[in-house]
Parts: sequence; structure tokens; C-alpha cells
Amino acid sequence: MVSGVGKTYPDGTEVLRKVNLQICSGEGVVLLGANGCGKSTLLRCMLGLETLTSGDIVLGGQSVQQLRGRSLRQLRAHIGSVFQQFNLVGNLSVFQNVLFGRLGNDGLLRSLNLTCSRINRERAMHCLDRVGLAHLASKRTDSLSGGQQQRVAIARMLMQDVKIVFADEPVASLDPKAGREVMDLLFEVVHEHKLTVVCVLHQLELATEYAQRLVGLKGGEIVLDLPPGHASPDILATLYDREQDGMTYMTGTEEPCYAS
Ligand SMILES: Nc1ncnc2c1ncn2[C@@H]1O[C@H](COP(=O)(O)OP(=O)(O)OP(=O)(O)O)[C@@H](O)[C@H]1O
Ligand SMILES: [Mg+2]
Repeated sequence: MVSGVGKTYPDGTEVLRKVNLQICSGEGVVLLGANGCGKSTLLRCMLGLETLTSGDIVLGGQSVQQLRGRSLRQLRAHIGSVFQQFNLVGNLSVFQNVLFGRLGNDGLLRSLNLTCSRINRERAMHCLDRVGLAHLASKRTDSLSGGQQQRVAIARMLMQDVKIVFADEPVASLDPKAGREVMDLLFEVVHEHKLTVVCVLHQLELATEYAQRLVGLKGGEIVLDLPPGHASPDILATLYDREQDGMTYMTGTEEPCYAS
């Protein structure tokens, strides 16, 4: 739950002003908004990677801002991140990248021992098999295509045993076909494991197709929160229109209401 969250960077850039967002367990949220409106900042705040200027973020009953050290790492171990740039170790094999998904869960030294354990190795192969890449396990990761690398990132997330997934433009650098395949895989995995997902997208067609709920950020606040069936192209376009400020579209609101 995100309550009254504000974030101003040290250089004075005010990005988030008063963000309120309640996400239920198992919900699939797609976060929309123009470049620079603060989507990545909000995800980083939810991951505890940014200090908040105001407000609070509670995940799984724990206030992210109050967690430090080991307890913050433990919380993060249950959060999977999928980024546009894949965030894999390019010069390691596909298999090693997936195996290292356990690092946060087991602690560094224990993980390094456990990576050798038969159970973890079998599990890593199982995760790779799930994303259709078992045959590429021994390849260097940076020799794979973008779509394949994003599948590796999804396999690593499966290895990590996550409950929540934050995906920041996961298909931005993929061609339309590879992008759709990755979205299919990501949301299949999310449904199979009943995960909660917050996914930032710029492609409105994909957003409408995959989201259970569309949330739009503008001017540092949530201005749209609708099921995809209620979000017409015109309504979605207001998120990207710099002229139209003050409009909010929330569930149960048929007509736009004007924020004060
Ligand atoms: N570390 C930082 N210090 C100062 N300003 C920052 C920092 N990180 C981001 N910003 C600024 O905060 C604003 C929001 O950035 P953010 O990356 O969250 O936007 P976004 O919605 O994810 O944009 P995009 O769609 O382009 O990815 C931008 O104006 C950006 O320049
Ligand atoms: Mg971003």
C-alpha cells in the first residue's frame, strides 16, 4: 500500500507529490504515464531504493522505509524485478544467471555453497525449461537475443521464489513479436504463481490487453485508476497531454471529475 508518497530528489526535482495506491495480493496493475512522470521512481521507492520525502509504503505488512540491512534484503528477496535492460551478468552463462536468482534468498556465502547443491541446480534447469531456454543453459548470456535475455530474467525471477513482480518497461527494447511473447510468458508465470505484478508500459495496446487494472501517473499523482474495459483511448490520451491537467479518472467515475 502506497500512502501519501512524495519524492523530491536532492537537486530539488519534485517527482511524486501525493501518491496513494492500494494493490491487492494477486492483482495485475499496469502503470502508465508520460516520460519523466515518475513511474520508475515510484517502483524504486516501492523497492526501498529511494528515501521518501513524505508518506509510507507498506508491502506484505512491512513498512519498506523502516526496514534496513538484512530485513530489507529479505523483503527484496521476495520481489522480482524485470527491467528494460535485463540486468543480467552478460559474461556468465544463462544457467549461472538463473542460479544466482537465489542469492538474495539464501545469503551470499550460503548461496555460493547452495548454488552447487543438486536441488538448486535442478531447480534452475526447471526454471529455464519453463521459459523454453533449457537448451541454451550453457551459452554466454550476452550472446542471446533481447527476447531470450528477458526470458532468462523471468527464469531468474522464478528461481528467486517471488511474491511480487515489478516490471519496468520489460519489452521496450524488443521487437513487437518478441515483446508480445515476453508479455505472454511474464503474465502466464504471474498467473501460475498467483503473483502480484506492477508493470510499467508505454504500449497502450499491450497495457489494455494484459492489465486487470490500469493506473496512470501525472503531475506527481495518480490521476487514473480503471479496469481496462473502462479506459477508452481518449481517456488514456489525457495522461500524455500536457495541456489537460486536473482530470482524474477513477473506478466508479463515469465522467471525468476535476481534481481541486
Ligand atoms: N536520481 C535523480 N536525481 C534527480 N532527478 C531524477 C533522478 N532520477 C530521476 N530523476 C528525474 O525524476 C523525473 C522522473 O523520472 P523517472 O525515471 O521516474 O520517470 P519515468 O516516468 O520512469 O520516465 P520514463 O517513461 O522516461 O522511463 C524525471 O524528471 C527525471 O529526470
Ligand atoms: Mg522509467
